Amino acid sequence: MIRTAALALLLGLTTAPALAAEQDPQTGLIIAPGWETVRNNCTACHSAKLVTQNSGSREHWLSLIRWMQEKQGLWTFDAQTEETILAYLSSAYGPKEGARRPPLRADQLPENPYRKPASTE
Ligand code: HEC
Repeated sequence: MIRTAALALLLGLTTAPALAAEQDPQTGLIIAPGWETVRNNCTACHSAKLVTQNSGSREHWLSLIRWMQEKQGLWTFDAQTEETILAYLSSAYGPKEGARRPPLRADQLPENPYRKPASTE
C-alpha cells in the first residue's frame, strides 16, 4: 500500500514518467498498479501501442472507452475494473502538457546560419 502511494506520487511528480518507468517487454505498457488489468482488457482487438502512444486526462480515456463500447464492440466493465483502468491510464499515460516547454520567442532563437548575408543579395 505504501509502495503504491509512493509510485503514484512519483508518477505524478516526475515530468517524463514514460521515459523513466519500467515497461512490460511484451506490450510496452508501463509497469504500475493496474497494468495487468489494462493488458487483459485493452490488447485483445489492437496492439498495446495504440494505448501507449495515446495520452490524456481521465475524461479523455473515459470518452475513448465509451466510444469503443458504443462503436467497436468493447465490453462493459464492472465499476471496480473501470476505476482500475482509468486510474492507471490517467496516471501512466496522463496529459502531456506539463512535459513540454513552450516555444522560444524569436529573440531567443539563434541566428539562422543559412540566411545569405545582406551584402551578397
Ligand atoms: C472490442 C475491441 C476493442 C477492445 C477490447 C479495446 N479497443 Fe481500443 N479500439 C478498438 C478499435 C476497433 C479501435 C479503432 C482502431 C483503428 O482506428 O485502427 C480502437 C482504438 C483505440 C485507440 C485509438 C483511438 C484514436 O484516437 O485513434 C485507443 C487509445 C484505444 N483504442 C485504447 C483502448 C483501451 C485503453 C482499451 C481497454 C480499456 C481498449 N482500447 C480496448 C477496439 C477495441
